[in-house]
Parts: sequence; C-alpha cells; structure tokens
Amino acid sequence: MGKFRLLLLGVLLHVFVGAMANEGMWIPTLLKKYNIEEMQQMGFRLSADDVYSINHNSMKDAVVLFGRGCTGELVSNQGLLLTNHHCGYSQIQSHSSLENDYLTDGFWAKSKDEELSNPGLEVRFLDRMEDVSAQVFAGTDSLKEAEKQSAMAENIQLIEKEAKIDDRFDAVVKPIFKGNQYFLYVYKVYRDVRLVGAPPSAIGKFGGDTDNWMWPRHTGDFSIFRVYADKNNEPADYSPDNVPYTPKKFFPISLKGVQPEDFVLIFGFPGTTNEYLPSDAVELLMQQSNPDRIKIRSRKLDILRSQMEADPKVRIQYASKYASTSNSWKRWQGEIRGLKRMNALDMKHRFERDFENWYQQSEALTHRYAGVLPAFEKLYTELRPYDRAYNYYSEIVFRGTDIWTLANQLPRNKGAWSAASAEAQQKLKQKLRTAIKNHFKNYHQATDEQVFVALMRMLKADLDASFLPESFRTLLEKYPDEKLLKKVYRKSLLTDQSKLTALIDQLDGKQIERLQKDPLVALYDQLRGYFLSNIERPYREINLEIGKQQKTYMAGIMAMKEGQALYPDANLTLRVAYGKVEGYKPADGVVYKHYTTLKGIIEKDNPEIYDYDVPQHLRDLYDAKDFGRYGDDDRMPVAFTASVHTTGGNSGSPAINANGELIGINFDRCWEGTMSDIMFDPDQCRNIMVDIRYVLFLIDKFAGAGYLLDEMKLVTE
Ligand code: ARG
Ligand code: ASP
Repeated sequence: MGKFRLLLLGVLLHVFVGAMANEGMWIPTLLKKYNIEEMQQMGFRLSADDVYSINHNSMKDAVVLFGRGCTGELVSNQGLLLTNHHCGYSQIQSHSSLENDYLTDGFWAKSKDEELSNPGLEVRFLDRMEDVSAQVFAGTDSLKEAEKQSAMAENIQLIEKEAKIDDRFDAVVKPIFKGNQYFLYVYKVYRDVRLVGAPPSAIGKFGGDTDNWMWPRHTGDFSIFRVYADKNNEPADYSPDNVPYTPKKFFPISLKGVQPEDFVLIFGFPGTTNEYLPSDAVELLMQQSNPDRIKIRSRKLDILRSQMEADPKVRIQYASKYASTSNSWKRWQGEIRGLKRMNALDMKHRFERDFENWYQQSEALTHRYAGVLPAFEKLYTELRPYDRAYNYYSEIVFRGTDIWTLANQLPRNKGAWSAASAEAQQKLKQKLRTAIKNHFKNYHQATDEQVFVALMRMLKADLDASFLPESFRTLLEKYPDEKLLKKVYRKSLLTDQSKLTALIDQLDGKQIERLQKDPLVALYDQLRGYFLSNIERPYREINLEIGKQQKTYMAGIMAMKEGQALYPDANLTLRVAYGKVEGYKPADGVVYKHYTTLKGIIEKDNPEIYDYDVPQHLRDLYDAKDFGRYGDDDRMPVAFTASVHTTGGNSGSPAINANGELIGINFDRCWEGTMSDIMFDPDQCRNIMVDIRYVLFLIDKFAGAGYLLDEMKLVTE
C-alpha cells in the first residue's frame, strides 16, 4: 500500500512537472511569490535569494546588460565576461583591418596589456529594482488623459533623478503590464570594457545567415571581454591606470554537461515581446506588417547578395549590414509560419470569448471592459493603411539605403547651428567626421544605387498616392532608372567623401544651405516631412489610443487571472526564464535531439561556401579527437536546446544549471518557435545555447589561450 502510494505520488508529480509550461520571463524580485516552488520542483537546488537579493551577493551581480541590447555574464574575479560573438561583432570589426583581420582570424590577447579598449561600450549591473507604481501615479487619478500623461512623466523624472545618486549610476523607470505598473531600475554603469578574445567568424558565425534561427546548429557564438574599474573598483572612463573589476559574484563553470530534462535557467535582458495582443493586432501582423517588411527586405537582400558574391571587397563591406537586415527578415517569416501552425488567431478569438464571459458576470466589470474589444477592432481597421505606409517609409526611406542613412545624420537647421556654442559646434563636427568615415568605409556606390532605385520604385508602386508627395511621384514617373540616378543620386555631394568632409570642416550657415539644396538631401527631406505630417502623426495618435485600450485590456486580463502567476512583456530589463533541456519534433516523422557535436561541423564543412568553411586547425583537432577534458567520451558537444522562453536581448545570457553553474551561453531560437514573441508553444519553442564545454575547448585547444581558464572556476564534480 505504502509503496503504491509512493508510486502514485511519483506518477502525479511527473504529470504535474510534465504539464508545466515553460512560458514566461519573470521578474527577479517576484520569484519567491510566483516561481521558486515550481523551479525547485523542476530540479533547481538554490533559493530565490541566490538569484536576486539586494542584501547579499546573488546571481544578478554576475549578469550585465551588454552594450545596448545583449546580455553578458562575469566568469572570473578579474572582470572576465562572456557574451556572444554576434554581440561583440561591431567591436571585433572595429579593431579589424586588412593586416589584422580579427573577424576572419579571431583575436586573443596574450596578456592584459593586449586587451583592446572599446570607446562607447558600456555594461550595466542592476543595483536594485523596485515597484514605484504608487509614486508614478501619485496625484494623477482625477486628471484628464493628456494632463495625466505629463504629470506621470514629471513624477518619473523626479524618481529617476533621485535614484541617480551620481554619474556612476543610471536610473530608469519603465512601465510593465502595459502601463498598469511601473518599476524603477538602478544600474551601475562600467565604461571601460576591453576585448579579450574572439574566435574566427568561421566558428563564431559558423552557418551564417543560412543556419540562423535554425536547429540543428553548430555556431561557436561567443566572445570574451573584461570589465575594468578605477582603483576603488568603481566605474571610470578608459584609462591605462584602470584595473580589472572585482565582481561581487561570478559564475562557476560546469564541465559536467547536460542531460535531457535537466533544469535550465536563463538570466538576462529580453528586449520586446507582445504576448497580450488582441486578435486584431495579430491579424494585422500576420497579414500585412510582416509580409510588407519581408517583401521590401527580400528585394534589398537579393541585390546585396549578388553584389557581395561578385566582389570580395563588397562582401566584407556589407557583411554586417546583410546580417542585421536578414536577421529580422528571417524571423518575421518564421513568426508567420509558427502563428499559422498554432492557429494563433483562433486561440486569440477563444481567449477573447473567455474574456467576454468573464466580465459579463458583473455589471461593474461589464461597464469597465465591454468597450475594449470593439475599440480594438475599430482602431486596428483605422491603423491598417497607416501601418503599411509607416513600414514602407521606415524600411525604405529611414533605413533602406546607405546614402539616406547618411543624409539623416547631416545638419540642416541653420538656426540650431548658430545658436550652439563654439564648443558644441566643434563636438558636432567631430561626430560628423566620424560618421562620414564610418559610412564610406562600408559604402559601395554601385550597390547602394541599385538598392536605391529598386526601393524607390517599390515605394511608389505599393503605396497609395495619398501617402507620397506629388513631386516624388512625378520624379519617378518622369525618369527611367538610369536617368533618375544621374539626376538625383550622382549629383549629390554625399557620394564624394572628400568634398563632404571638406564641407563639414568649414561647416557654417552657408554650408548648411548647400546641404539643404543637395538633390538627395532635398528629396529625403521632402519625404521625411511628408511622412511626419501625413503618416507618423496619425499613426502615433491611433497607437496612443490603442495603448490606452491595451492598458485597460491588460488590467482586465490581470483581474481575470487574479491569483495566477502572470509575467509582463519583455522590456529590456533583467528577467528569469526557466525550462528544461529537451529536443523537439519539428514535423511529422522528425525528431530533433537536444544537442549537436563537432561531427556535425565536419559534416557541413565546405570550403566553397563561405558560411561553412571550417578552419583547418579545427578539422585537425577533430581528426585527432583531441578534445581534452571538454569532450563527452569521443564526442565534442557544440550546442544544445532547452524549452526556455527567450527573445532578442537574451543573446549572451548565461544558461545556468540546477546548482547555479554556467553550462552554456544563449544565442538563438529554433525556427519552428520564432513566434514566441507573440505566442509561446511549449511543444515547439526552444532556445539555443552554445555548450560551455565547446567554448572552453575553443579557448584552450583551438586558440591556445588556456591561460584564460586559470581565472575561471571550473566544476567537475
Ligand atoms: N538570430 C540571432 C539573434 O537574433 C543571431 C543573429 C546573428 N547572426 C546572424 N547570422 N545574423 O540575435
Ligand atoms: N539572437 C537573439 C539575440 O541576439 C536571441 C533570440 O532572439 O532568441 O538576442
């Protein structure tokens, strides 16, 4: 009997654990309330306080917001930091030249003296976070919407100002739950962060855009940095006198590897999700916004690809632009596919019926919530044409062509220029010189001209005439492609680096006038002006109204789910997500394992294809099975998947095991689960991590930089 009951308990427990969805990006201060019990049932051996505490050192002290949109983690008591290769990409590129091509060959500082400084790169440690809703809403209850907004903005400013004790800190107040609550985040910002090591792109970007967002994956997507501080361990600008930062906490690294069902925690800075959208919004996304953006970028990528294939110099110049253009382009496609497969619209509709049934139980609730869904329907119908125009302008005019990205940075306002102090003028000039230099470094005129013509034609063809200035339409009707280029593009100062730099050197009111009259700049300004008054303004106004409704809808959902754990959408603040190591079944008859190995890299090896050109030394290590203590019997693990809810910004996040040890670095998601920003499917959504043993193997065996491991704490038992 006793045995039977135990067995039954086991079965029940298993069912319970097995049924647990791994959806959610949770607030670290609320783990105790919502998550820790479940986490421990899933295998986690530590406490909520071990993850986040302000009274003693905790994991949060070893996790940083890296740059503007990635995560990094500390792995030594000398400030050593791990993140992704694609997160350090622009730093690695900025130190690269034809003689020292670190993108191609990799980079390894042999001592601290050789580490490379990165002006502008910052890492943020979360000092503390707290719910400040009461202060934000204080005194705003009886105000009308517009006044309410500005009163809240004032409150927020005050809270931030008070929290930012001095310039070592940054303080931001951010809305969660669609503005139903507000949190204050105080960061300590370290400004001297140096590049320590990076594998060659053939490893760090192995598989390139072909394998991006896909499993099975074989990318060694990591790079190493070091955080520096002044003599008191405090933030400081770069100085040769700075010393390695001593973190309050760093992650020990596990060499034990992973097994299916193992608990995994991802601790990082997820950027944006939209899990509480109404069906009308999801419909617009699937039917119009994503398809529009995909169409525009497909055209651009086709041109870039053919130009890059024809000329190795262009390939280098456009590598990073291609990667960033294609990254979202590919994800949007996966997103539509995943949402369709989930019948996302049906699910949203069903949820909305539940919502209606819920509020109809009382008059007060009906009064509060009955207007929301009809309002969404009306507002999203109104938004539809503006959404198209908005996406076309932002994809084509504001980030489509190199030349207009440059145009956007040049000064046009004579009044503002003459009002600026001499010092401010000098500063601006210097900034512009740098911008111009950076632009021309990666600019190939023939390529950009092709993109320019193709995208202008698309803008004209696909947008309703009412969304385009008359002059632009006539211009495009009047001239065939070649003539258009001659009349506008090639007549522009912006195609000539020396003339443009000379203009900036003598920048004054007259030179600004010259810029205003430049045919490309003038056309850009015309489009921009038209956009701001005829598209952006109504688009923003409708969205403001949508935001208001979304706030009410969210409040309703929270009330309806009262007592249940609910997580707010990602907003680039520190979150805890957890799940377990597992593969998945992407299609009928197909089963994906949870891990890949070096064998797969050798299988993909193809010197003819840029994305799959395996470095000889890696081939040799494979042939010799020289995996050191990092291998798993005769296999060298490379990447693995888990069912953890992650998104953009989680790149570089530590993957942590049940004991709080580092087992991998998060860098991507699987194709079938890319809709997780809108709707999470526990069956199909998997995050991808590079196995920490592959990272160590590469540092030690491939790069011969094993001395870096001496500062780390490796755990084998
Ligand atoms: N998909 C990953 C993310 O969103 C990796 C992107 C970088 N890699 C690339 N091939 N573009 O950041
Ligand atoms: N690759 C993404 C990033 O850079 C992560 C993801 O979207 O899953 O943050």
